[in-house]
Amino acid sequence: MGYVIAIANHKGGVGKTTSAINVGTLLALTGRKTLILDLDLQGNATSGLGVRKEDKPGLASALLDNTPLAEVACPCYCDDLFVLPLGRRSSAIEEEIRNQPLLMERLESIFDRIAAAWEYVILDCPPAFGILPNAAIRQANYTCIPVQCEFFSIEGLTAMLKRLQELQTGGSRTPRTGVVLTMFNPEEDHSCQVRTEIERHFAPLLLKSVIPRDPILSSSTTLGIPAVIQAPESRGVRAYLELAWEILRNEKQEAG
Ligand SMILES: Nc1ncnc2c1ncn2[C@@H]1O[C@H](COP(=O)(O)OP(=O)(O)O)[C@@H](O)[C@H]1O
Ligand SMILES: [Mg+2]
Repeated sequence: MGYVIAIANHKGGVGKTTSAINVGTLLALTGRKTLILDLDLQGNATSGLGVRKEDKPGLASALLDNTPLAEVACPCYCDDLFVLPLGRRSSAIEEEIRNQPLLMERLESIFDRIAAAWEYVILDCPPAFGILPNAAIRQANYTCIPVQCEFFSIEGLTAMLKRLQELQTGGSRTPRTGVVLTMFNPEEDHSCQVRTEIERHFAPLLLKSVIPRDPILSSSTTLGIPAVIQAPESRGVRAYLELAWEILRNEKQEAG
């Protein structure tokens, strides 16, 4: 079964999508068959990977029409990279599941089939938790929480960890959790203060990789080209390379 990595934080704008795109593309570029599951209605991971989200059937069609996964997963950029958007009827998914509880079983079976078909699955979670992201997170082997280096991040992180624990209670898995600092700027006092505070309070969860603030990460997503392809030498991409290896090392430790 594939290794499922959820990128989650109920705070928006912290770097979830940027992390999903770059870690996912790096895994694929190194020959690991990878699916980025774009669970956000906004579809930023899909467009950031250069795929037009408007006309794609997506997960909604797999769930509501039984369309095979091979037909809804969109190939992008390299042989081993795919993105699966929510799809045209995405706004209907949660309501359909509420009206037809059996759909929940079908959704879980889709997640199982995704994990069987891809070596790595990256879940780009939306800021608001609902039926769909909750069900997806319960399937994850690993949860990576990007935290922006700004005030109030600590409160948000505490709340997020509590939420995760609630979600995982009663589930079949207790995934490992890693916190990654994003948009770090060593020249900003408050960025450094927040880093020190997070190190003090969350040391066991904190990953060694720190993602710096790097405008190339932002501009490449807007262009629909992953930064790891557009600017492989950039500081931001080097940091994402470290993050990807750190997550893989965690996986190896779990396995053995
Ligand atoms: N390390 C970074 N340096 C500079 N800009 C970043 C960085 N990470 C993310 N951004 C930008 O910040 C905004 C929010 O990032 P995004 O990944 O979309 O967050 P989320 O998915 O958590 O809402 C986007 O405009 C993105 O391009
Ligand atoms: Mg996002």
